[in-house]
This record gives sequence, C-alpha cells and structure tokens, in this order.
Amino acid sequence: MRSRGFQLRPSALVAAVVGVLLVAATAAEAKLSQNYYASTCPNVETLVRGAVTQKLQETFNAAPGTLRLFFHDCFVRGCDASVLISGPGDEHSAGADTTLSPDALDLITRAKAAVEASCANKVSCADILALATRDVVSQAGGPSYPVELGRLDGKVGTRAVVKHSLPGPGNTLDQLNKLFALNGLTQTDMIALSGGHTIGVTHCDKFVRRLYKFKGARPQRNSPPMNLAFLRQMRGTCPLNYSPATVAMLDAATPLRFDNGYYQTLQQQKGLLASDQVLFADRRSRSTVNHFAANQTAFFDAFVAAMAKLGRIGVKTGSDGEIRRVCTKVN
Ligand code: HEM
Ligand SMILES: *[C@@H]1O[C@H](CO)[C@@H](O)[C@H](O)[C@H]1NC(C)=O
Repeated sequence: MRSRGFQLRPSALVAAVVGVLLVAATAAEAKLSQNYYASTCPNVETLVRGAVTQKLQETFNAAPGTLRLFFHDCFVRGCDASVLISGPGDEHSAGADTTLSPDALDLITRAKAAVEASCANKVSCADILALATRDVVSQAGGPSYPVELGRLDGKVGTRAVVKHSLPGPGNTLDQLNKLFALNGLTQTDMIALSGGHTIGVTHCDKFVRRLYKFKGARPQRNSPPMNLAFLRQMRGTCPLNYSPATVAMLDAATPLRFDNGYYQTLQQQKGLLASDQVLFADRRSRSTVNHFAANQTAFFDAFVAAMAKLGRIGVKTGSDGEIRRVCTKVN
C-alpha cells in the first residue's frame, strides 16, 4: 500500500537526488583508484575479461546489453549495482529498465562467479560491472581504457526513482542536457555517451511515432526529420501491427561494431530514436556530431573521458555499501 502523504513532489525529489549525488560524488572521488584490488584480487581484470570473452562468443547481444546496464546503474542511485538486485519492486520492474538485457545480467553473474572462485568477498558487483563494460566496448571494436575501482554495492534497489532518473527517446536536447547535467555530465559528454548506440537494438514502440501519423496523437515535442527511404524501410520492420518483440538496430550502418558509424547515420537522418536524431537536428549539438562523425579518435577520446565521469556518479563508501556476495541479492 502506498500512502499519498508520503509522495514527494517531483521538484523536491530531484533536489533530494541531486543533494545525495553531490555528497556521494565528493566523498567518493578520492577513494576510487585503478589498482584498488592490487593486493586483494590482483587477477580481477583477467578474470572479468575471460568471462566477457566467453559470453560474447555465445551472443553479441551481451555487449550492448552490458553497456546499457552500466549506464542505467549509474544514473539510478549511482554506480552501485542496485540495478542487479532482483525481487518484488526492484529497478527492473520500472520504466526503461524493463527492457534491460538478460544476457548482460548473465554475463555479470558469470564474471562474479569467476572472481569469487579466486578472491571471495573482495570485489564489488559495481566494479565487476564497470570492468565488464570496458571489456565489451573494446571487444566490440571500441576503445580500451583504464577503469577506476573501489565502488561498494548499494543496499537498496527499488523502482521508485527509475523513471525520473533515466532519459527517454522523446526527450528534447534541453531535457537531455538537464538530466545529464544533474549527473555532472556536459553536453559533449552526453553526445559522446549517446555514441553507445553504435551497437544494440531498440524495440519498435520507442520510435514508431516517427513512422506514422496516429489519429489523435499529441504532437511530439521532439520531432527531428527522418530520411524518407529509411522511413519506408523502417515501416517494413515495424508495421502498424508490429509485434512487441520486434527490434531494429540503433546504428543501421555498422550495428555490430563499436565505431563512429552512429554519428554518420545521424548525418544521413537515419537515427531511429528522436533523442538520437535531435543531436544532429539541433544546431547547438550538430557540430559535435559532425566532429565525431569525421574523426573516430576524437569520439573514442571523448567517450573514454565521459565513461570515467559516468563511473564516478553516486559511488557508495563506508556503511552505505557492502561487497555483495551474490550480485542479485543484498547480503
Ligand atoms: C541520451 C539519452 C539516451 C536515451 C534517450 C536512450 C534511450 C534508449 C532506448 C529507448 C533504447 C532501446 C530500449 C529498448 O527498446 O529495448 C536504448 C538502447 C540502448 N542504449 Fe540508450 N539511451 C540514452 C543514452 C545511452 C547511453 C549514455 C548509453 C551508454 C553509454 C546507452 C546505451 C544503450 C545501448 C548499448 C542500447 C542497446 C541495448 C541492447 O541492445 O540490449 N544509451 N537506449
Ligand atoms: C582527430 O582527433 C584527434 C583527437 O582529438 C586529434 O589528435 C587528431 O588530430 C584529429 N584528426 C584529424 C584528422 O583532425
């Protein structure tokens, strides 16, 4: 049962979340380090990489799935593996988290098992997720980069704040910038991280409004143009009676490769999500899209820098956190 009096106004909620994030970020920044497990689990990077390599041989889906899982974990209550907790009312049961990838969860479960077998109770699920994310990106053809470690796992995972914390495919540039700024990320960081959509898929319901005129539908706040031939092709992929399970590639050009092809598809107006295409449509962000489309090194450098900032959001220290024994359950 939910008591009405207990509900916070959205503005109060946002203020509370920002407050918590700021406090946590300041406290945590000094604690993270690349060699955090040097004495307690010196092989952790090799163990995680082995689990990633094996899982990706079975299914590529785990690569985009894991990258998205890390992003959602960090934006909801900070990078504390709260997204992995399973049970009634968990994060998975709300908003965008309902389509997180089971393959990604399986990858983290396996990596944790490999790590526990060598160093029991030493490495947090949040750090394993951060390492696995680096490894899926590099194994998909993207940059490799050092990962800061020392995050603790959160003790709480609830659906309560999921919807307010994550961006949606209909967001305008201002809405995207505002949400990312709340997490300490700039517009350039946001555009570089959106490059994560160079791999992976989206379900039809996330962009079908851009393909048809629906009777009585409210006009979208954010309606950037779509290439006409591409639009017709996508009507084939997602007919009006599309199945809820049907998906399309977010980067139509090179969907299995982590490269700057995503930005080139935006230049061709072949971005599927309105929130992707708006980055090219809006003059304030277009030059960055053009820069990343022309220079993959510039994209990779910006992505690596933004991933480091993403990985510092709301890190738990002290009694706020623990090293979870099983990633799907608090101890
Ligand atoms: C900028 C705001 C963003 C919005 C509005 C957004 C929205 C979405 C949506 C709607 C999907 C498809 C979900 C589905 O239908 O199942 C998706 C997938 C995905 N997102 Fe984002 N996203 C954003 C930023 C990011 C960031 C920052 C990353 C990581 C750095 C990311 C990584 C991914 C990946 C890899 C997928 C594919 C997942 C898979 O194939 O399993 N996204 N995103
Ligand atoms: C591409 O970007 C990198 C990194 O910012 C820079 O060093 C390089 O000079 C750029 N290359 C070109 C051709 O502009």
